[in-house]
Amino acid sequence: MHVTIIGIGPGHPDQITVQAVNALNAHDVILLPTKAGTTTGDTRRSIAQRHLVNPDAHRLIDLPMPSVRNRPRGAYRHSVQQFREQQAAAIAAALDALDVTNVAILTWGCPTLFDGTIEGVRTYPGVQMDVIPGVTSVSALAAAHGVAQTEIGQSVLITTGRQLQHGLPANHGTVVDMVDAKGHVWTQDPAGWTAYWGAFVGLAQEELDHGPLDEMQQRIPAKRAELAETHGWLFDVTLLRQDHQDQNPPEPDI
Ligand SMILES: C[S@@+](CC[C@H](N)C(=O)[O-])C[C@H]1O[C@@H](n2cnc3c(N)ncnc32)[C@H](O)[C@@H]1O
Repeated sequence: MHVTIIGIGPGHPDQITVQAVNALNAHDVILLPTKAGTTTGDTRRSIAQRHLVNPDAHRLIDLPMPSVRNRPRGAYRHSVQQFREQQAAAIAAALDALDVTNVAILTWGCPTLFDGTIEGVRTYPGVQMDVIPGVTSVSALAAAHGVAQTEIGQSVLITTGRQLQHGLPANHGTVVDMVDAKGHVWTQDPAGWTAYWGAFVGLAQEELDHGPLDEMQQRIPAKRAELAETHGWLFDVTLLRQDHQDQNPPEPDI
């Protein structure tokens, strides 16, 4: 079995690469991971249909994936490991059911960022794999706000809300908060940070906001709750930038 994992970008139908479109068109069978309670499967399907030269010539097959909401309870690392095993089992079951030896799987954003597809496919016996990168939700967010992800001589930390729940790390000029269903970032000490936030970036439901973190903490939690209520699910990402770094800039090494 040869599997091509294709990053399709974070939702905007034009945020897909030419390499990804070419790979889509080269596969008769395209698996669309779907997650209960979200519309990401529908979005994957519509992005594929938009870019397939002859959509009727391809089989687009839903691949139901376990929901992170049902992740097994227990110690975090063990629980995530079990969840990843469930994901791998779902992928294996879908591949077992196919009558072809070449298949594409469409992943959200870039398959190399907070996504279990690569690991899941890798465990399939005898598999060969190609990975096609995609635009990440981080780059889409930064571009939507017109800010750079990086600053001269400063590091960037891309992490999860869980990792931020005990405070924002001061040793990074930029911190990106993803996969933060509980909104931990909105309860941290806000002093010295500006937040650039986006929900459903690139999708029709997109919402953007930015400002000093203390002010954002007053309005974003209610906005998040409203969006989750309206749409039944929520994807959001926040880029946090430390203020006043120009007062003591480190030496760039280039
Ligand atoms: C499982 S991770 C997948 C990330 C994806 N592979 C990428 O490259 O962006 C899902 C998280 O990515 C972020 N995310 C993905 N797409 C997004 C979008 N269109 N708008 C806002 N956040 C998004 C959210 O933080 C969400 O919880």
